[in-house]
Amino acid sequence: MSLQSKRVADTSVPKHIDPSEFRNVLGHLPTGVVVLAADASGQPVGMAANSITSVSLDPPLIAVCAARTSSTWPLIRREERFCVSVLAAHHEHISRQFSRSGADRFARISWHHRDTGPALDDAIAWIDCELVAEHDAGDHTIAVARVLDLASAQDGRALVFFRGQYGRFVPTGFEPSRRENG
Ligand SMILES: Cc1cc2nc3c(=O)[nH]c(=O)nc-3n(C[C@H](O)[C@H](O)[C@H](O)COP(=O)(O)O)c2cc1C
Repeated sequence: MSLQSKRVADTSVPKHIDPSEFRNVLGHLPTGVVVLAADASGQPVGMAANSITSVSLDPPLIAVCAARTSSTWPLIRREERFCVSVLAAHHEHISRQFSRSGADRFARISWHHRDTGPALDDAIAWIDCELVAEHDAGDHTIAVARVLDLASAQDGRALVFFRGQYGRFVPTGFEPSRRENG
């Protein structure tokens, strides 16, 4: 059944999904955290995001969802190029700084220029992107970008966001062993 015929056949009223329940349940999906950054007329601009995913290998595409309320995304979109820095395990403060409204987000941050924009010095990976499409998606926009270049640090450990908390990735082989009988 096509999506169109499914919509026509489905006469039931969709259940109301409470936004806080939506956040709570979707927060069970662990993600990495990135900083999206661009040079906006010589000024570095950036925002934290976790809604980023790889989309296509050929051509190389990624997607990220930006809130319609974001004041930073329109500045990044205008440049059409941006750099993604994947945050390291010790970067919780950077995630907080790049999500705080009114803050000087690049204050006390070590960064350098890549072809597409500002890149955080000790991130664990960098992805140079060129915006190719935007799709309306409710209160967000889905931005699709072509990957122009990319690099990663050796042995980088990622910052992880899970159920509203920050943590770090630990391979299962490194779990502390459980004592028998509690
Ligand atoms: C862990 C984390 C993940 C976030 N992910 C996103 C995201 O995927 N998309 C988005 O638009 N905002 C996301 N935000 C919120 C933005 O970083 C920030 O609050 C927003 O850009 C508001 O500031 P602005 O008006 O300067 O854009 C996230 C914040 C945090 C802390």
